[in-house]
Amino acid sequence: MTNAEYLEAVEKRHSRRAYRQKPLGSEIMQIIKEMVEAVNNDANLDFTFIEDATPFFKIFSGKFSMIVIAGPDTQKARESCGYYGESIVLQCVYHGLGTCWVSGTYNENKVYEALHLPSDKRIYAVITIGYAKDKYSLVEKTMYNATHKKNKSYQDMFEFCDAKLPEAYAYGMKLVEMAPSAVNRRPVHFRYENGILSGYVDEPYSDKSVDFGIAKLHFLIGVRAKGINGKWSLDNSFEEYGGKRIKFTPDKAEGEDD
Ligand SMILES: Cc1cc2nc3c(=O)[nH]c(=O)nc-3n(C[C@H](O)[C@H](O)[C@H](O)COP(=O)(O)O)c2cc1C
Repeated sequence: MTNAEYLEAVEKRHSRRAYRQKPLGSEIMQIIKEMVEAVNNDANLDFTFIEDATPFFKIFSGKFSMIVIAGPDTQKARESCGYYGESIVLQCVYHGLGTCWVSGTYNENKVYEALHLPSDKRIYAVITIGYAKDKYSLVEKTMYNATHKKNKSYQDMFEFCDAKLPEAYAYGMKLVEMAPSAVNRRPVHFRYENGILSGYVDEPYSDKSVDFGIAKLHFLIGVRAKGINGKWSLDNSFEEYGGKRIKFTPDKAEGEDD
């Protein structure tokens, strides 16, 4: 998918919890399985596609499938789960499907029983996927109202900012505002200092790191839409390609040639 298509999906996406009675078609299921396999190979994660997810849920309605979002028990794996899981979410949304990240309102034990994951792997969430109903159900409206009483603006996510954000970064942060997060808590603390944007979460060994991975992808889609390319470094700062980060290089010894 192109960046412009990802952007369209970001604008269109909302969590959906009421699905039609029609299950996903076999061709679509095949495409999702291939996406899951690609993520597992590229990112060393343990996503699993489950065709019929309804036995694991009580309050979601209709027929829907799900991807179990699992991986090693590390902070980085949690972030990667968010980043790659959200990339699948946005691809599904772009193609007209309804999705919802879920880490609480499903029967996690039952999923562990069904999957037989190795003991060093953990389930961080599931993503439901199906044909959403045209209209929001009462349950959906109630959950939406409960989680959207306060919407933290991106400015409120900054704990330090020593200059006005460049336009591309401000737009990236707008897309972070639109990212899903558990109970809409938007837990990432951002800093902008000496021209470098970085982020962190308070409890990195929790599903807040999943939220952070999701936020990272949204930021990237935003800055790319404004013509800036880059990546999130291992220290959780954003590095522009060919860009701004000043790298320390030792001085050459006197008389040394290039
Ligand atoms: C990691 C994660 C866990 C979530 N867990 C649940 C959940 O257990 N039940 C649920 O109904 N929604 C869950 N959500 C969906 C959020 O409530 C939703 O993303 C948030 O309220 C923002 O609303 P929006 O997705 O419609 O923009 C979860 C989202 C994320 C990212």
